[in-house]
Amino acid sequence: MKNITLLILFSGIIGLCGCPSNEENPIVTPPPIDSCNNANENLYYASRFPIGTAVNYDAWKSDPEYAQLLSKHFNSVTAENIMKPAYLHPDENIYRWELADELAEYCKNKSIRLHGHTLLWHNQLPSWMQFFQGDEAAWDAMMKNHIQTIVRHFKGKVAAWDIVNEAFEEDGSFRRSVWYVQLGESYIEKAIRYAKEADPNVLLFYNDYNLEFNALKRSAVLAHFGKLRAKGITIDGIGVQMHIFHVYPSPLMIRECLNEIAKENYKIHISEMDVSVNPLSVDIEYTDSVQTLQMQQYETVLNAYEQIPAELQYGCTFWGITDKYTWIRSSFLREDYPLLFDDNYKKKKLFNAVKFALCK
Ligand code: G3I
Repeated sequence: MKNITLLILFSGIIGLCGCPSNEENPIVTPPPIDSCNNANENLYYASRFPIGTAVNYDAWKSDPEYAQLLSKHFNSVTAENIMKPAYLHPDENIYRWELADELAEYCKNKSIRLHGHTLLWHNQLPSWMQFFQGDEAAWDAMMKNHIQTIVRHFKGKVAAWDIVNEAFEEDGSFRRSVWYVQLGESYIEKAIRYAKEADPNVLLFYNDYNLEFNALKRSAVLAHFGKLRAKGITIDGIGVQMHIFHVYPSPLMIRECLNEIAKENYKIHISEMDVSVNPLSVDIEYTDSVQTLQMQQYETVLNAYEQIPAELQYGCTFWGITDKYTWIRSSFLREDYPLLFDDNYKKKKLFNAVKFALCK
């Protein structure tokens, strides 16, 4: 993830420069359209597709203002960390369900959709898994057990899983994750088969970053899943993470990305959206003009997303609620203001722009 900034930075400096049918979203019913102008109305109420957020478990449990915003404005959630392998499967024969079960129970009680993130990734793997000793058959069995135990546990509680996260490099080649090194590229199709065996009804997504502007990477992803689809091994959708900047990528790039994926008839999840305003990781002033550019990026993404067929609109998830807890500050150790609510949980003008873009 860290090399994103370099890539975007490099290209940024250079550049500067869709009624979902109910079985997928049994939880969400579209609201009457005229809710736009109801200022204190919640965010998702204005939208024809689910509006989600990443949930930071510690903030949710310890910060009432955070919890209040979560319950008011979002009808879909993704666990920011607690449903990743390191948290759910800390040891070979140990699964830790408590935190994720609590979130699943909350979602059930509040009729909020829970999106599972993520079953296979190169990051946040428990060390026993990262350094697992065994031949290909042992790795295959371990991966199968991991996937099927988790998918079965959340059957009927999770609407969809990111079955594989970030498996391709920027040049379109396979990332040399432990899964790829031990099992070859077939680990992806095996993972899909194992998940479907465990729960034939759960939707499966491939999730990745930089698809918004890296056409080479995007076409490698579409080519691989197109190849699998041709032999009857299908995913339902693609998660476009949308970790972007206020100045990059361009509206044309964003539209091309969404249209190209929609043309292949995959559901599209804007899965981790945030718009950073500090690509150079320097001291910045969060001026009105910077916020206006940021606002236009949010509007650009949502307007482009609204143009794809409604049946492919799985939903838009922001990677957090308030700037206070954004991963960008902790991961890049920089000042940044990427989300819809400020550090004091106050709606930024972005919020109304997004709400308006959603209910047009
Ligand atoms: O839980 C430990 C805590 O016990 C410890 O005291 C603390 C200090 O090191 O670390 C805590 O773990 C951190 C964890 O977030 C929970 O806060 C990890 O260090 C930190 O690396 C982890 O960061 C997460 C990151 O994924 C890991 O790569 C971010 O919160 C999360 O937003 C980010 O999300 C990813 C998506 O899953 C995939 N796409 C990119 C996105 C951004 O990197």
